[in-house]
Amino acid sequence: MFESLQPAQADAILGLIAEYGNDPRPEKIDLGVGVYRTEDGKTPVLKVVKCAEQILIDTQESKSYIGTAGAADFNAAMQALIFGDASPDDRLTTIQAPGGSGALRVAAGMIMRASPGASVWVSEPTWANHVPLLSGAGVTLKPYPYYDTDKHVIRFDEMLATLRAAPAGDVVLLHACCHNPSGLDPSIEQWQAITEVLVERKLVPFIDMAYQGFVDDIDRDAYPVRLMAERVPEMMVVTSCSKNFGLYRDRVGTLSLLATDSATRDIVSSQVNNLVRTIYSVPPDHGAAVVSLILHDDELRSAWIAELAEMRERIIAMRALLHDALVEKAPDHDFSHLARATGMFCFLGITVEQVARLKKDFGVYMVDSSRINVAGITPANVTYLADSIVATLQDG
Ligand code: LMR
Repeated sequence: MFESLQPAQADAILGLIAEYGNDPRPEKIDLGVGVYRTEDGKTPVLKVVKCAEQILIDTQESKSYIGTAGAADFNAAMQALIFGDASPDDRLTTIQAPGGSGALRVAAGMIMRASPGASVWVSEPTWANHVPLLSGAGVTLKPYPYYDTDKHVIRFDEMLATLRAAPAGDVVLLHACCHNPSGLDPSIEQWQAITEVLVERKLVPFIDMAYQGFVDDIDRDAYPVRLMAERVPEMMVVTSCSKNFGLYRDRVGTLSLLATDSATRDIVSSQVNNLVRTIYSVPPDHGAAVVSLILHDDELRSAWIAELAEMRERIIAMRALLHDALVEKAPDHDFSHLARATGMFCFLGITVEQVARLKKDFGVYMVDSSRINVAGITPANVTYLADSIVATLQDG
């Protein structure tokens, strides 16, 4: 059977982890995969997570299966974190999922069950794994314009015009904050305009919120989710605790489905639980149990909010550092978009050949699109990084 297979292409993002790991140069810099890094380049377990894990070890009585929807206390805490005080609980169901990717896969399955003829509109560009993950589940994808690679701004009018022309019942995948890969998010006014179009055109929002708390605080970052939850009859929201709780490998995420009324919500809930059983049966528990402990305890929750702010502020400072270094070293080149972007990522705006040269000649790793993970920048490496980028620019 397997003789017929050809090797699969290396993943555009995860493939860089191994490449970087195998590079012996001490000056190498990893701006590839989107994980938070401290000033010394580490991705440590959050202190509050260590603390909650200890409580869990001391108090957990069983490792028997949890149900298909995961733990009710985790789902309730996450639903409140996502939707806030005005959460339309009687129309919502939230399940625990194996990371944001697991949640996306279940959401795709729900689209295929509920509306197999609907297309999902995705931003051009979007997270590199959105396309294979969703289309691999059978969903038809269509692009909407999002990032202007010349002017480094959101192609907002074109985006709205495309969505206005989409057929009613289609689904629109949006990034709540920290647009991955561009780092450019719509403003409050733009979110309001997008929401109006979705309502008018009867389009279903499908929001991916993988970075809640990485641009601003928890509430501000959830603004588009909460706005749309007030205005639209149906929506889906996926979240990830990989970044904001640093639980990458523990696979913690959620899928929330908003239905028109509570009777439909109950049907949706039975369908999503049935679907989960056919994909991975039940979600992993450890990371979600840790998150639940943190969110239900005032002291742990405050400690988490403080650590999240620390991560966010370091990223903001590193982005400014690189921006200023590039402006100083290459005053004729436009790097102003680095200052406009927010969150973990932005594009450098260089060619794929320049990206390859940065890797080969300088040991600077980033995705081919020139997306950089800003958290890979440190005060110690920024000068080398800026010099390497400028040298690459000069070669054209
Ligand atoms: C990224 O975009 O780098 C992260 O979300 C990690 C991943 O799985 O791609």
